[in-house]
Amino acid sequence: MGCAWDVHALCILDFQPKTLPAMTGKLLVLTDLHLTDPGQTIIGLDPAARSRAALSHAIRTHPDADALLLLGDLTHHGRPGQYSGLAALLSDIPCPVFATLGNHDDATAFGAEFPDQMTDGFACHALQNGGMRVLLLDTLDRDGSAPRHGGWLCNQRLDWLDGEMAAADGAPLLIACHHPPFATGFAGMDGIGLANPRALLDRLQAYRGPVQLLCGHVHRTISGAVEGIAFTTLKSPCHQMPMALSAKTTALSVDEPGAYGIALTGPTGAVIHSEDFAVAMAGSHDPDSA
Ligand SMILES: [Fe+2]
Repeated sequence: MGCAWDVHALCILDFQPKTLPAMTGKLLVLTDLHLTDPGQTIIGLDPAARSRAALSHAIRTHPDADALLLLGDLTHHGRPGQYSGLAALLSDIPCPVFATLGNHDDATAFGAEFPDQMTDGFACHALQNGGMRVLLLDTLDRDGSAPRHGGWLCNQRLDWLDGEMAAADGAPLLIACHHPPFATGFAGMDGIGLANPRALLDRLQAYRGPVQLLCGHVHRTISGAVEGIAFTTLKSPCHQMPMALSAKTTALSVDEPGAYGIALTGPTGAVIHSEDFAVAMAGSHDPDSA
């Protein structure tokens, strides 16, 4: 037994990933902030206070972040004053911010508060980070093409995506959007995902480089692969989806710890972390731990 253990330990040492490329980019990610009017709560929680705590923790813990991504449902009702509240929350963020929209947002009200975040009426963005091409896709349905609260990619946005993917020219892609183009196992939420998922998945599968998906909408940390494409969904900083897979409703929420994401990007792809900021604690040193 002792000999086998020794050999095993030696193998572990031999396979330390010394030659893997380093992750050189870092993106902070918040989704589903659901900012309300002042004083209005969601299941007793104050979305602004939760988002403020998340942003404070994220910026304090990761001062080296290259950018902050916001993946939609920035507000709960899409009201102008709620976007003013978002602007106040973001006023002292030291890195660039890129925001896209979800089903609880209003493009007109958002664009009035954040004109620099809109191009041709859509909150789509392309940036370079850590050797990856990062594309934020606006999946807010403007005209009832999707069921209520579902997501939609119109031809104008798909044309933009085609152009950006062609320009990326095989570089690793991180596609970030609000609505997942895949089933998550939550019956209610799967009824209001991206309503034209093939439009996105077919393009991603045709791409000649690696692709990862990063989504919001479900208010739950989920990972997996859809048709060979790795995905992650992130929790909200405020209210979460309870583990009630068969529930047909989309209105269930629970006060589990809020979170934000940290995407480490490199020339071969991204690693996505989720940080429960309200319960996060500094670790203690144990020399016998791995
Ligand atoms: Fe949401």
